[in-house]
Amino acid sequence: MDLQDILKGLTGKISERKADIPEAYHSLSHQERKTLLERLDKKSLRFLTSIIKLNKKKRFRESHRGFLEISQKNIKTPVYLIDENLIEENMRVLRYVKDRTGCKILHALKAYATYATFPVMSLYLDGTCASGLNEARLGRERFGKEVHTFAAAYRENEFVKILRYSDVIIFNSFSQLEKYYPMTKKKGREIGIRVNPGYGVADTQMYNPCAPCSRLGVIHEIFQEGFQSNMGKIDGLHFHALCQQNAHALERVLKSFEKLYGRYIKGLKWVNFGGGHHITRDDYDIELLIRLINEFKDRYNVQVYLEPGEASVLNAGVLIASVLDIVRNVMDIAIIDASAETHMPDVLLMPYRPYILSSAGSEEKRYTYRVAGPSCLAGDVIGDYSFDRPLKPGDRVVFTDMALYSIVKNTTFNGINLPDIAVIRKTGELEVVKSFGYRDYVSRQ
Ligand SMILES: Cc1ncc(COP(=O)(O)O)c(C=O)c1O
Repeated sequence: MDLQDILKGLTGKISERKADIPEAYHSLSHQERKTLLERLDKKSLRFLTSIIKLNKKKRFRESHRGFLEISQKNIKTPVYLIDENLIEENMRVLRYVKDRTGCKILHALKAYATYATFPVMSLYLDGTCASGLNEARLGRERFGKEVHTFAAAYRENEFVKILRYSDVIIFNSFSQLEKYYPMTKKKGREIGIRVNPGYGVADTQMYNPCAPCSRLGVIHEIFQEGFQSNMGKIDGLHFHALCQQNAHALERVLKSFEKLYGRYIKGLKWVNFGGGHHITRDDYDIELLIRLINEFKDRYNVQVYLEPGEASVLNAGVLIASVLDIVRNVMDIAIIDASAETHMPDVLLMPYRPYILSSAGSEEKRYTYRVAGPSCLAGDVIGDYSFDRPLKPGDRVVFTDMALYSIVKNTTFNGINLPDIAVIRKTGELEVVKSFGYRDYVSRQ
């Protein structure tokens, strides 16, 4: 079948609202997808978005059964179990945003750096964003494509190496830009300045880069002065203001950003909208994101970058733990072999209550337990959960959405061993890609 026939077939499927559209769409080449999108009217585009989202949602719902089945097998715990197929589902949604807007999407390594799955991710995304030398190197060596590095401040003894591994260096102040400009330019790297967009929307102050007195991003008063004397040196602007947010939050941030910095964009090559876009969440308004990017591009004629981390691996991995003991103090407490403190630190930091598959809230099912970790920290408690059956030593509990900000942040506090990392490959094969032991603990002391 030639291209015209394929596209005709798919256009027909879209107008007839056929269910197998997402598979057909994702299997097209870049040029085929571009040609198809150019042919579709607004209504059909909106339909395509909704069916792609629906298809992804279905795939993720089905995955719960698979995770539960594996947890019942003889898998060593604790283990972060990541499903490459689910990561690919997320990648497809991100690539769809790229297809519709021409934006570039970088994966934020700070959220997830398990390079065993990078070959799948790099097929879809444009590269990575790094927070310093080690991430820049990982991005260059394991992911490939573009590496954009931002650090609140660069160390002199690392900067030459950072330049080696990065395509773009984003500075957090004009003093750092001036200090490192000659080296950066000589190496032919692009330069960005991170600005404070003047409007923060993150719910928790700890995660709000625009909170009062934030050190992250040049504030507008300082930018105005610094830009005049550094104009010709800057290729792009960067802001990061979101955390787990929908496109409506981006719309508000963009309004403020454009009001403050819009007049400086002309002549620049790119604007990076940072991370925190929860694009692969079921209720995310993808059509609004697409509109915001396209309108921004029309106004300023620049390349737009997004650098989400969470969205890449949202809901694509679990942490499987085993019950070690049940103790009692006012209520039943299940001590498991995974720890909030060491293996899922955001549970305590955010804080939030992760979902355990087949569980419900406290007292909703017949048997309620406080699920807690094995460390000495009194507060190493994941939460109170109820189950249909009583828990006993050896039973498995499966915490969902554990690929992001867990593996990259875990510690060996108390000498507690790190969980294995296992990947369900696209072939269905389960591969344990990392195991840890005493050497990993002692090498850090
Ligand atoms: C500068 C920057 N870019 C990207 C990200 C990734 O954000 P997320 O993982 O929430 O999408 C962060 C997160 O803190 C960030 O600070």
